[in-house]
Amino acid sequence: MELELQSLEKEARQQLEALSDSAGLEEFRIRYLGRKGQFSTILRQLGTVTTDDRPRLGQLANTVKEQIEALFAERQAAINSSDDQSEDFSKFPDLTLPGRIPVTGKLHPVTQVMQEVCAIFENLGFSVAEGPDVEQDYYNFEALNIPAHHPARDMHDTFYVSDQLLLRTHTSPMQARIMETRQPPLRIIAPGKVYRCDSDITHTPMFHQVEGFLVDRHVSFADLKGILTVFTQKMFERDLPLRFRPSFFPFTEPSAEVDIACVICGGSGCRVCKRSGWLEILGSGMIDPEVFKMVGYDPEIYSGFAFGLGIERIAMLKYGIDDIRLYYENDQRFLSQF
Ligand code: PHE
Repeated sequence: MELELQSLEKEARQQLEALSDSAGLEEFRIRYLGRKGQFSTILRQLGTVTTDDRPRLGQLANTVKEQIEALFAERQAAINSSDDQSEDFSKFPDLTLPGRIPVTGKLHPVTQVMQEVCAIFENLGFSVAEGPDVEQDYYNFEALNIPAHHPARDMHDTFYVSDQLLLRTHTSPMQARIMETRQPPLRIIAPGKVYRCDSDITHTPMFHQVEGFLVDRHVSFADLKGILTVFTQKMFERDLPLRFRPSFFPFTEPSAEVDIACVICGGSGCRVCKRSGWLEILGSGMIDPEVFKMVGYDPEIYSGFAFGLGIERIAMLKYGIDDIRLYYENDQRFLSQF
């Protein structure tokens, strides 16, 4: 056993000398020093030697093992530090470089403004209702006091799907749809897409509107003015002059188009406001008694106002955009600015 120990020591020392990397170190540790390693195996054999020899051999075995362990630790330290020095940094990423920022998608500016408009009215107690883009002739026209052959139909150059079906030209059909199924008091906004055969720097064939209407007892034009004034203040974060211009809609009486001072030119006149200094942002008025009658409300008891505003127009004003078509060209350089 003594001989065995000596040759094991010699062998281990030689092996240690030859070690050059950390994988070799680990192999060595398992083979010689581990719980199932050669030294442990020898120490376990101590039980088979005579009691006289046991203390001396035991001590010898432990000493040799400790020496090998010490040498191993030395070798380990040497290999680890030389490992560090010879590290080839070119194969590691340079952690000091700025990170690559992933491109995150976001909401289209029109959607952002749409949500903002809805949020303002929701805070004023309105609730949101949505209706179909492909609408029945009845709701788009008839129920809004625009009978067939009424000249007001010409205002909307309409996309027809069939005789009685069309792409809605405004969100006003939602007035009839909601009033038909609910009783006052009502405070509703109806956002959505609308379609008209129209295309220039302030018109696209598809655009977005938010319809708003309020029906109750004793609602007056003053309520309409109040709500719209609060809305423009919140939307543009400043007091912008509003202009109520008498107008005509078959479903409101009286009717008014509401203009906002042109924020692009400050009112002095430009391409966008067509040199007028004002920009039309919405149509409005007191709901016509004829509309109430058609949905079965008593116009002697109830009154209400309604308005329909164009989202693209509002977004143009808010961001100072001078061509509505930019929204739909899908140019990332434009869209990523919002
Ligand atoms: N629906 C009208 C349009 O699109 C706007 C409007 C809505 C007018 C509600 C009055 C009341 O032109």
